[in-house]
Amino acid sequence: MITLVGAGAVGITLACHLSVAGRPLRLYARAKDRAAFEQAGRLRLERPGGRTLEAPLPPLTERLADADTRYLLIATKFGALDGVIDALGTPPPGLSLVSTLNGVRALPRLRECLPQTPALALTIMFNAQHLGPLHAQLTTKPAVILADEGDQALRGLLQGTGLALGRSRGEEACWGKLLINLANAIGALTQSTFRDLLSEPNLRRIFAAVLEEAVDRIEAAGIAYKLPMPLPHAAYRQLLLRGGPLTWWLARLKNGLDDGAYPSMVSDIRAGRATEVRQLNGEIVALGERLSWPAPLNARLLELVEALDLSSPARLSPAELRRQLGL
Ligand SMILES: NC(=O)c1ccc[n+]([C@@H]2O[C@H](COP(=O)([O-])OP(=O)(O)OC[C@H]3O[C@@H](n4cnc5c(N)ncnc54)[C@H](OP(=O)(O)O)[C@@H]3O)[C@@H](O)[C@H]2O)c1
Repeated sequence: MITLVGAGAVGITLACHLSVAGRPLRLYARAKDRAAFEQAGRLRLERPGGRTLEAPLPPLTERLADADTRYLLIATKFGALDGVIDALGTPPPGLSLVSTLNGVRALPRLRECLPQTPALALTIMFNAQHLGPLHAQLTTKPAVILADEGDQALRGLLQGTGLALGRSRGEEACWGKLLINLANAIGALTQSTFRDLLSEPNLRRIFAAVLEEAVDRIEAAGIAYKLPMPLPHAAYRQLLLRGGPLTWWLARLKNGLDDGAYPSMVSDIRAGRATEVRQLNGEIVALGERLSWPAPLNARLLELVEALDLSSPARLSPAELRRQLGL
């Protein structure tokens, strides 16, 4: 049995695919969510091309793990993770924790707080937005990555669900995804779509520089990473700097990105929610501090996002952001 906690953009996308494929699934519902979930009555996922995937409402549970729960699939934001750990209490034997969270902090946090319980990363390679109770919109192909050393039974549960299931070695996919997610802060500050980020010249220049700074630190620290594109970093950088809108077209072809898709940090800012910028650009800043090799571009992005007034966030033009980063 799988229990899913966090019925937002990622959670609904995963739950819909698992449910339609007949996988045993329960949905954790806090007291505040139960009525809205029951009223929604089913899971709904809008997919690119206008096809809706629907699944019956999975059984709701007020417990994060029962004796028969094999996997707790965690699809909350990082800021909610400690609350999930507290609500879990003492995990039953045989439970594994599966984190879908962006960044690389969730697994160490889970392992620190629950050392007896295996914790695995399911790297989410799709983009989705939360539309309402048990209703989400997928704006890319639904792809996920599980580490090779990961749980084979979990791999079996994910196979044949319509989710494209990739493999990685260790945490290299998490680090590769983190590198791509560094663009989210650029998107949040300029309120840009992926199309803007990969085709507007100032934004491409900014992303190339922010990525280069991060790759340099990650390589200096000896951390293995795999970018989610069939190109090494040096070639991707050239593509960003000199390839015009080609980077966008390649991303569109590979991921099936919708024209209007935007990073989830853009929706966080629009909704006045805290962002995960500290777990993304902040991770590179922390790495730079450990190496005594500062990462000023990522530090400035972190500072600018954290300084946003979430009740009325200012939007920077791409040229203004580039100027503020000294590029
Ligand atoms: N969206 C994407 O495209 C995408 C792609 C890749 C990775 N990710 C990562 O996946 C994770 C989830 O992102 P998301 O976009 O799905 O976030 P989201 O849409 O904000 O969904 C998170 C959901 O978790 C719920 N939640 C929070 N605490 C909870 C608790 N204790 N019990 C039950 N539910 C709880 C939230 O409800 P309330 O708001 O009512 O608290 C919200 O509905 C993040 O780390 C994100 O970076 C997202």
